[in-house]
Amino acid sequence: MRIILTKDFSEMSQEAAAVVKNRLETKPDLVLGLATGSTPIGLYQELVRMHKKEGLSFAKVRTFNLDEYIGLEPDHPQSYYYFMYQHLFGHIDIPEENVHIPDGLAKNPEKFCQWYEDEIEKVGGIDLQVVGIGRDGHIAFNEPGSSLASRTRVKTLDEQTIKDNSRFFQNVNEVPRFAITMGIGTIMEAKEILFIASGKGKAEIVAKALEGPVTSLITSSILQIHPKVVVIIDEDAATCLQRKDYYKYAEEQARRFEASVH
Ligand code: PGA
Repeated sequence: MRIILTKDFSEMSQEAAAVVKNRLETKPDLVLGLATGSTPIGLYQELVRMHKKEGLSFAKVRTFNLDEYIGLEPDHPQSYYYFMYQHLFGHIDIPEENVHIPDGLAKNPEKFCQWYEDEIEKVGGIDLQVVGIGRDGHIAFNEPGSSLASRTRVKTLDEQTIKDNSRFFQNVNEVPRFAITMGIGTIMEAKEILFIASGKGKAEIVAKALEGPVTSLITSSILQIHPKVVVIIDEDAATCLQRKDYYKYAEEQARRFEASVH
């Protein structure tokens, strides 16, 4: 894992956007896996800025979102479909047909999940998958105890997740109880993963995910065995990391090394 510590949310967002931009410049038809939640909002703002001010184009990019609530209409302000258009897709040049977001209203969710998996495979797999982390350690909606080999499927949300996400709804009863989510196995097949986290509230779980044992009880811990992960987290989220000083030192050295060979 390459672990990059930043001073705050804004720097985390800029660093993450720089990674996306770099991969996009190397492969204009990048297959990008995307996440929702508060954490990637700054990243998306920065990508929109790069599109408007620096001409970064998404015209050939294909995207696959990690998850979607079951039962919310796409125009529901808390649906992830709505979120993605509000924060990213509505402001960049991506063709609508290149966007994939799980259909929370699918009549046959099981069939839909298989179709979603097939679509990912058809485009050759995900090149870069953005993930955040929930306070229960989940990535996407793979709640504690999820199979580490799981594929896209319907998942029952954990009580902690429902509570955490209720801040976006009028009250906790409005939070959907189910979601369609990419599985851990699906996410692990992405060629590269960009993991972002911010804030003190994430510090303990980030340390468990990055430095604790690999366990289905903290599904994000599986990323430790992925061959290519870039972790970008701010100082607050890094508070509980045991090897924090080493990560800082190693990143400084890596940048120095890269500058010397290019
Ligand atoms: P957050 O959610 O970015 O809103 O903290 C992350 C997650 O639940 O995966």
